[in-house]
Amino acid sequence: MEQGSQVPHVIIFPLPALGPVNSTLKLAELLSLAGLNITFLNTDFNHDRLVLHSNILDRFASFPGFQFKTIPDGLPADHPRAGDRFMELFDSFKLVTKPLFREMLCSGQLNSVTGQSVTCIIADGILSFPIDVGHELGIPVISIRTISACSFWAFFSIQDLIEAGELPGRGHEDMDRLITSVPGMETFLRLRDLPSICRTNNLEDPNLQHNAYANRQSVQAHGLILNTFEDLEGPILSHIRSQCPKVYTLGPLHTFLKYRLESENALLQSLAPNSIYKVDKSCIAWLNAQPLKSVIYVSFGSITVLARDELMEFWYGLVNSKKRFLWVIRPDLVAQKDDEGQIPMELLEGTKDMGYIVGWAPQEEVLAHQAVGGFLTHSGWNSTLESIVAGVPMICWSYFYDQQVNSRFVSEVWKLGMDMKDVCDRVIIEKMVNDLMGEKKEVFMKSTVEMARLANKSVSEGGSSYCNLNHLIEDIRLMSMTAVK
Ligand code: UDX
Repeated sequence: MEQGSQVPHVIIFPLPALGPVNSTLKLAELLSLAGLNITFLNTDFNHDRLVLHSNILDRFASFPGFQFKTIPDGLPADHPRAGDRFMELFDSFKLVTKPLFREMLCSGQLNSVTGQSVTCIIADGILSFPIDVGHELGIPVISIRTISACSFWAFFSIQDLIEAGELPGRGHEDMDRLITSVPGMETFLRLRDLPSICRTNNLEDPNLQHNAYANRQSVQAHGLILNTFEDLEGPILSHIRSQCPKVYTLGPLHTFLKYRLESENALLQSLAPNSIYKVDKSCIAWLNAQPLKSVIYVSFGSITVLARDELMEFWYGLVNSKKRFLWVIRPDLVAQKDDEGQIPMELLEGTKDMGYIVGWAPQEEVLAHQAVGGFLTHSGWNSTLESIVAGVPMICWSYFYDQQVNSRFVSEVWKLGMDMKDVCDRVIIEKMVNDLMGEKKEVFMKSTVEMARLANKSVSEGGSSYCNLNHLIEDIRLMSMTAVK
């Protein structure tokens, strides 16, 4: 190949959870549409599930420069990789995946379809080891974080929180204390709104330490990609830019891709979302039969695990609200299912009348459906962005990690919904559902409609995400030219 004109070859290495894999695949498609050669490196575990439940291989088949490669995550096949046990991935990554990744790069196993070596690595910043490997091998690395800018900034500030004596917290009583060491959030961020890993008395806790370190290390990369948009998180992004000058905000990625595909008249089939569960589309027919904005959609994403009593509180709260609900109960959502047969009759009756339950829904399609008027969510960042784009107000019941920060911003900063964090009580759930779907509906609709407009503007021609993608592509092309000199 002629050296000066070589097409860049980018390895994309996501965090192996559905949300991050999904949004990173959208970036992969956007870069493929721009003509770059892409190798998408997924863990064996997630790749197998994606192939099983989605049309992912067909979807990328039209890009001759695109290929999937896989790498072991180092955990046994039957490891749950959900709930608290998700974090165990980080140890096995360090032990098993890091040396393998290095070896695969050196041996040419990750070369492009045309045999070209890697000119740029885009890797999830929380993995951190790709930055070390890239530096060692002289390959430029760009970090991607698929969380919000506000939660990234809270993670980034953990070291300062510890130094200022704001962490560790002093137990339950202390949870409403205002936190002052996250710049830009001094007036509203409470201890309970910090990332859930901060809820420890032990400052040596490996999760806390890893996150404090990896988020700081993200800025050692050539740049940082965030799935957000300037109109949503501008003030926090200015703080991030004080530490990391090259920040490319490209979000909402799912809307951006849709926009690009529509403007290129690409096949709509390409839009089918990826999934690691079997999608039950029967809920769309059910929604079609419901009145306008009458349904609350309930989903806790792909990792949340509920205790059985939490499941029952949600169930009673929903049924008692007398509002229509569509609820995603994944096969692995509930921790123990021993007495599964004993669902009280009143719940089964209430669900038959007003509810519909699926194992996995086509979420973007559901949120865009005219019958949906609210979203009870765990505040995962993809779900939050999807809700913002669809203009659907939220009740936030954050589960872990970044979600505690997101839910505070949804309620206090963006005014797009209500925060129910740390409460799982049928009476409160009933009240919040009724408020969201009833008297507070109009108030929220004003802000949700406006934010949906801004989200769409950011990915349209001339919008901030649109321009930032062009900058990213230019920078990747420059890197590949430097690499061959
Ligand atoms: C994880 C973390 O939990 C989250 O906090 C972080 O921001 C990203 O990584 P997850 O829990 O799966 O992700 O939540 P989220 O980011 O909301 O992603 C869930 C994805 O699954 C969304 O894209 C959503 O559309 C999709 N989904 C969910 C479905 O397609 N169908 C469903 O029934 C439920």
